[in-house]
Amino acid sequence: MKIVQTVEALKALIRQAKREGKTVGFVPTMGYLHEGHLTLMRQAKAEQDVVVASIFVNPLQFGPTEDFAVYPRDLERDSLLAESAGVDLLFTPPVEEMYPSGHASMLTSVEVSEITTGLCGASRPGHFRGVTTVVNKLFNIVEPDRAYFGQKDAQQVAVIKQMVKDLNMNVTVVAVPIVRETDGLALSSRNVFLSQTERQAALVLSRSLRLANEMLAGGCRQAGELRKAIAEMIEKEPLAHIDYIAITDAETLKEAEVITKPVLVALAVRIGKTRLIDNMVWEG
Ligand code: PAJ
Repeated sequence: MKIVQTVEALKALIRQAKREGKTVGFVPTMGYLHEGHLTLMRQAKAEQDVVVASIFVNPLQFGPTEDFAVYPRDLERDSLLAESAGVDLLFTPPVEEMYPSGHASMLTSVEVSEITTGLCGASRPGHFRGVTTVVNKLFNIVEPDRAYFGQKDAQQVAVIKQMVKDLNMNVTVVAVPIVRETDGLALSSRNVFLSQTERQAALVLSRSLRLANEMLAGGCRQAGELRKAIAEMIEKEPLAHIDYIAITDAETLKEAEVITKPVLVALAVRIGKTRLIDNMVWEG
């Protein structure tokens, strides 16, 4: 595995691979890798000749009061893990390489409207603009055939797919199912912030999604009933504070009332100071 820090060096290596007729898979990440990220990398390796992964904590997608400064970082450990998952080129640019004039001075951005306003977009204004702008930059640098994203960030997947479709980008977006701990907790780089008691309390997210799944399987078709049952379960957990409970069409992310199609049940819950997200899609 080669570790590359500059855009020019990465482009040169990718040009060479493409000249050899190789396909390129790409896994963008913010690092502090866990089994969720590694699953994306392994799938990319199984499907493509060359796998490029990026580790870049993107300042553009963090709000002023969010955790950019304390976001966990460990490049040495990440490099070993990425290599073990089959990554060929690991792109780890410093912030100045991605934003030479500073991220706050970027004159150009990419913004997907409507589907970015609800769910995480409501409590994180500007977040998805930061995500689509950096992912667009990374796509232009890597020019991947396939790019892999986790269903853990369901709204992010929908937003990236929309951007690729609307702007005719030459990349196929592949969504990979959520990877969980054996007790149900969805893997996240932010889980490291949880204390032992908070880690236990955080199980309420996956538990309430299982309840939603049971209710749907049992014939419940009223989003309101579902939301109420989820809220009641989460509110019983004293360390948990609901940011949102969204029950939406799985593709358009429009609020569902009566459930008729594949539905996305998505949650954001603060456990202490840590904001966690989780979701499930019920195919009907
Ligand atoms: P990050 O949070 O590091 O996640 C990188 C990728 O790993 C995302 O596609 C995310 O959905 C996926 N992922 C995280 N946890 C997962 C889990 N438990 N199961 C499956 N996949 C999981 O998402 C970002 O970084 C950034 O927004 C990024 C796309 C890199 C742009 O900066």
